[in-house]
Parts: sequence; C-alpha cells; structure tokens
Amino acid sequence: MGLQGAKILVVGGGSGIGFSVAKTALGEGAEVTIASTNADKLADASARLGGVATAVLDITDETAVAAFFAGSGIYDHIVSTAGDWGEGGRGPVAELDMKKAEDLFRVRLWGSAILAKHGAARLNAGGSLTFTGGMSAWRPAKGSVMATAMAGSLAHLTLGLAKELAPLRVNAVFPGGVATEVYEVLSDSTKAAWQARFASFPLPRIGEPDEVAEAFLYLMKAGYTTGQILQVDGGSMLAG
Ligand SMILES: NC(=O)c1ccc[n+]([C@@H]2O[C@H](COP(=O)([O-])OP(=O)(O)OC[C@H]3O[C@@H](n4cnc5c(N)ncnc54)[C@H](OP(=O)(O)O)[C@@H]3O)[C@@H](O)[C@H]2O)c1
Repeated sequence: MGLQGAKILVVGGGSGIGFSVAKTALGEGAEVTIASTNADKLADASARLGGVATAVLDITDETAVAAFFAGSGIYDHIVSTAGDWGEGGRGPVAELDMKKAEDLFRVRLWGSAILAKHGAARLNAGGSLTFTGGMSAWRPAKGSVMATAMAGSLAHLTLGLAKELAPLRVNAVFPGGVATEVYEVLSDSTKAAWQARFASFPLPRIGEPDEVAEAFLYLMKAGYTTGQILQVDGGSMLAG
C-alpha cells in the first residue's frame, strides 16, 4: 500500500514535523492538504511545498472541525502534528497553575479526539489516523508532570480509538527532541540543555524533522499495523 495518489490531510503541516510529513508524502506522489490555525503560515508553507491545498482549522473548535469535514472530500489518511508548547503548565507540581496545566491538554489530547470524532467518517476503507505525542510519556523530566500526563493520555486515546474505529487504523508517533523551527529559535544555553538531555541516549543527538516524518509515512502505509505508539527518539528507553 503506497502513497501514490493518496489523499492526506496533515493538521500542523504548516511547520516543523508536519511540514516534513507533507513534503515527504508529496515526494511519494500523495495529494496533500495542510491545515492549522494561521492562514499566512499555511500560505507560506504551501508555496514552499509547490502549492498544496490549505485549510484554516482549529482542532480545539469542535463546531469548526465538524463543519470542515462536512464540506471536505474523503481522505485516505489524516495526520495530526498539531501542538502547542504549554510552558505555563510546567514547573514543580506544588507551584502549578492548574488552569494553565489544563490548557496543556487542549490541542494535543482534546484536539486529537475531536479530529478523530469528525474525521473518521471521512476516511476511506483502509485509511488511518496518526497522532503526535512526545517522549515525556515514558521518560518524564522534572517539572513536566502534566506534559507527561498529557502525552500518556494521548497514547491511551490512540489505543482506545484503534479498537473503536477498526478496521480504520489509528497510531501515533512519539518523538524525542526534534530540530524544528521551535528548536532553532531557542537560546544557545537552552539548546545546550536539550543536547545534554540526549547525551546518554544510544543515538546521542537531536533528531531531524525528516527522520521523524519517515515514521508517519510508515504508519500510513503499514496496512496491518494499528494501535501502535512508534517512539522516534534516538532510543530513549535505553538511555543512560
Ligand atoms: N520538536 C520537538 O522536539 C518535539 C518533541 C516531542 C514532541 N513534539 C510534538 O510534535 C508536534 C509537532 O512539533 P513541531 O516541532 O513540529 O511544532 P510546530 O512547528 O510548532 O508545529 C505545530 C503545528 O501545530 C499547529 N497548531 C497549533 N495549534 C493548533 C490547533 N489548535 N489546530 C490546528 N493546528 C494547530 C501550528 O500551526 P498554527 O500556528 O498555524 O496553528 C503548527 O504548525 C507537537 O505536538 C509537539 O508537541 C515535538
């Protein structure tokens, strides 16, 4: 099952990992639509991708997501790399602002659930949904209790949906550190802290977006694979 001619919606495709997924899928002959909240960013990304379709879509807005799918065509695959960084929800647990911590779940957990609820009916037989979590689900860092809880709950959302929506396939990619635009604008000291975190991993470096994109392409093509969390993080489970 290749991607030649496959219709793919990449939510979050205007930047970072999602942009790489869109670019790599286009390279395999797919027909790609990129979606996210910022129209200018999407237009810029579309131009860099040679002019793909774009859709302004906030996956936390259920009414908007329902309206989008009511008017959309049928897809073969839906990928979401949509995410925010939720810094407000981080810090020692005793000092957490619980409202901001709650917000941390909004795009990645609730947005993914909303996308599945309304997107599944617009998928062809044999189609797939692929979400994006993060390494903190299994390798928590101090000060990231709620990010860990959010990533863990996304893993379990994936399992539940894989059962519920079968024979549609539902999987997720859980990256480690990835050198997307978000990483590139960090200060040198923050970059050094990131690199130090990965130093004891079997692959002791930050990953490239295209390396992570390969995992999404695999999960779209892998017709006998569902309910899987694919960790693309340089071997975090074997660290140190
Ligand atoms: N980079 C890393 O090191 C790393 C590591 C582990 C996990 N992750 C996870 O991987 C995902 C992608 O990361 P990235 O580095 O590629 O980040 P990114 O470049 O910031 O990409 C996230 C995308 O999500 C879109 N988005 C945000 N809120 C949205 C919403 N409500 N509805 C629809 N789209 C929305 C953004 O576009 P708009 O601004 O246009 O909405 C943006 O294009 C994130 O979930 C992140 O937490 C990243």
